[in-house]
Amino acid sequence: MSDDQTARQETFRALLRAQRVWDLPSLPSFDPDAAPDTPLELFHHWFGEAAAAGQREPHTMTLATVDDEGRPDLRTLMLHDADARGWHFASHSTSAKGRQLAARPEAALGFYWAAQGRQVRVRGTVTTGTATEGQADLHARSTGALAAALTGRQSEVLSSRAELARASEAAWERAEAEPDAPVPTWTLYVLRPREVEFFQGDARRRHVRLRYRRTENGWERELLWP
Ligand SMILES: Cc1cc2nc3c(=O)[nH]c(=O)nc-3n(C[C@H](O)[C@H](O)[C@H](O)COP(=O)(O)O)c2cc1C
Repeated sequence: MSDDQTARQETFRALLRAQRVWDLPSLPSFDPDAAPDTPLELFHHWFGEAAAAGQREPHTMTLATVDDEGRPDLRTLMLHDADARGWHFASHSTSAKGRQLAARPEAALGFYWAAQGRQVRVRGTVTTGTATEGQADLHARSTGALAAALTGRQSEVLSSRAELARASEAAWERAEAEPDAPVPTWTLYVLRPREVEFFQGDARRRHVRLRYRRTENGWERELLWP
């Protein structure tokens, strides 16, 4: 390694070691005995608390999928809803994730709400909404979201940024002129949870982990060692 590389590595390590986690004046307490019967209810509750605590973009989450060689993949997405059907998100069916989900409709979602030291993990099977639902989801969103979807070709190799600029310009013009423009590949996905884990961080590392597991008789709850 050159002197420059060594110095950069040292700077990086010093900065990394200076970072702290669960270092807030106070973290919320979480009593798992008082938790609701369903993970959906607790998720709605925690989401509201994350937003109220000033957590930025609490609706962003990590979606993990598996490719056809069994290799995990992940990316950040926006949560579009969470209801009795499951956790909703949307993307192009032709993207890498879309192809992975078509081949293997199993996924996991992760939320991290640092403002409260909370994490939520959701695992389950993914189904697609109808074409009408996909288009309704898209047209309920911003002009920018429609322009991005109209630009298309997500996850394909881009030959130059100028090509993107041209496609994006045309997509914006169309999105502004035609707010109901269809994007046939835009798909609503719904992850039906099999298990959902709620993690409440604790400064003394006595973290609370509550896992809900779907059974024939409804949701079972169990605590996990941190
Ligand atoms: C904050 C944030 C939100 C995003 N939301 C979405 C989304 O809702 N849908 C989507 O297709 N991509 C979204 N993306 C882009 C994805 O992270 C990803 O780059 C893209 O979907 C391609 O992923 P893939 O190649 O694994 O299919 C978002 C990215 C960020 C950083």
